[in-house]
Amino acid sequence: MKSTRLIAAEILLNVVDHGRSLNDELPAALADTELDDQPFLQQLVYGTTRYYFALDEIIQKILDKPIKDKERIVHMLLAVGLYQLWKLNVAEHAAINETVSAVTESKRKWATGLVNASLRRFQREKDAILAECRRGDSFPGWLNKRLRQAYPEQFAEICGNSNVPGPMTLRINAKRVIREQWLKLAETEGIVAQACEHANSAVTLAAAAPVAMLPGFDAGDVSVQDEAAQLCAQILELNDAARVLDACSAPGGKTGHLLESAQNVQMTALDVSAERLQRVGENLARIGETAELIAADAADVELWWSGEPFDAILLDAPCSGTGVIRRHPDIKLLRKSADITALAKIQRNLLNKLWPTLKPGGRLLYATCSILPDENSHQVAGFVAETPDAELIPLTLPADAETAAGIQWLPQVDGHDGFFYALLEKQL
Ligand SMILES: C[S@@+](CC[C@H](N)C(=O)[O-])C[C@H]1O[C@@H](n2cnc3c(N)ncnc32)[C@H](O)[C@@H]1O
Repeated sequence: MKSTRLIAAEILLNVVDHGRSLNDELPAALADTELDDQPFLQQLVYGTTRYYFALDEIIQKILDKPIKDKERIVHMLLAVGLYQLWKLNVAEHAAINETVSAVTESKRKWATGLVNASLRRFQREKDAILAECRRGDSFPGWLNKRLRQAYPEQFAEICGNSNVPGPMTLRINAKRVIREQWLKLAETEGIVAQACEHANSAVTLAAAAPVAMLPGFDAGDVSVQDEAAQLCAQILELNDAARVLDACSAPGGKTGHLLESAQNVQMTALDVSAERLQRVGENLARIGETAELIAADAADVELWWSGEPFDAILLDAPCSGTGVIRRHPDIKLLRKSADITALAKIQRNLLNKLWPTLKPGGRLLYATCSILPDENSHQVAGFVAETPDAELIPLTLPADAETAAGIQWLPQVDGHDGFFYALLEKQL
């Protein structure tokens, strides 16, 4: 069986050089790894991805010349070794010796001396090398620039918070159990949890737990969902029997929450990906809810819309995911600056195309898990300026940043993800 360190380096290579996501890579690798080694593999993969830009800078400082393209696995093994010495509580001799063994295992015996010497040099000169490192927060230059521009005061905190893994937060199904009752039940099972401050359905666990251990998970009493994502039902405030469109629904977290938030909601859940839409069906089945599921591009309105307008629309738009980097650190490696312009165009097109499907007097909630104004406040302000019957409804929830439109939440350690909401009403 392959060593954990070599598997981690191979995954890192596939993410950095071949644009693969951790979701593509990690499940199969974990399935091939001994149960006892799985947490360490996850730690190495998430950690080296999270700190890749900084690790890369350290490697450039330590090596006299870059490693050749066809030997890039050695570069990634060095990153795995350095990460252990920098960030993990692993015995240093084990971190070095096991990483060097993984170099041999990768059939790059020529590189064992180089990796050994490089790791030992870092071990000796760590403080001096790190003091010179300009990319300690490990964000790509383009994102750094955009965040610094958007949040000059909060920039450092945003990067820091985005490097701390998010807590496990749950949504309590109000149709089935009261939040305080569930907290008591959890306590009797030895699970430490507390009610979240803003979302009235949310509780955060002191430590992540397998879902099978959560009271009532199989029965649909609880679902895993960040607090920020749970504001959606609270903001939209559906009436019973409302006719609702969830335009970008997969995997169905918010679809489920909207269905739990009122009685007899007539839900149409769209997603462009038929494969991902299946997950919506599975997730709704667990919580005992149903929706009309349609695999379609939401912008192709004439292909899927019956012509009967909706009382409410959720547009949880495809976005950069820059508010959830702490949960998906590969976003820092996979996204490029040009993606933001392309995504903003897609988002505006979805807003324009879906607006006619909303009833006069109806409300559309625009949401993203981005923290970039071009996808959020600028996007919505631009849409409102060009859409005479669209009115921006002020939200009373506290925000983490001033915006021209909507509320912007930024990632908080032990708290919620970065998220954006803007509520629009169609004038009568
Ligand atoms: C942010 S995720 C939605 C998360 C979901 N609302 C939830 O809470 O679980 C965005 C989704 O939009 C889908 N999507 C992207 N472009 C789309 C389009 N043009 N029409 C419909 N769905 C689209 C993606 O497949 C993805 O599942």
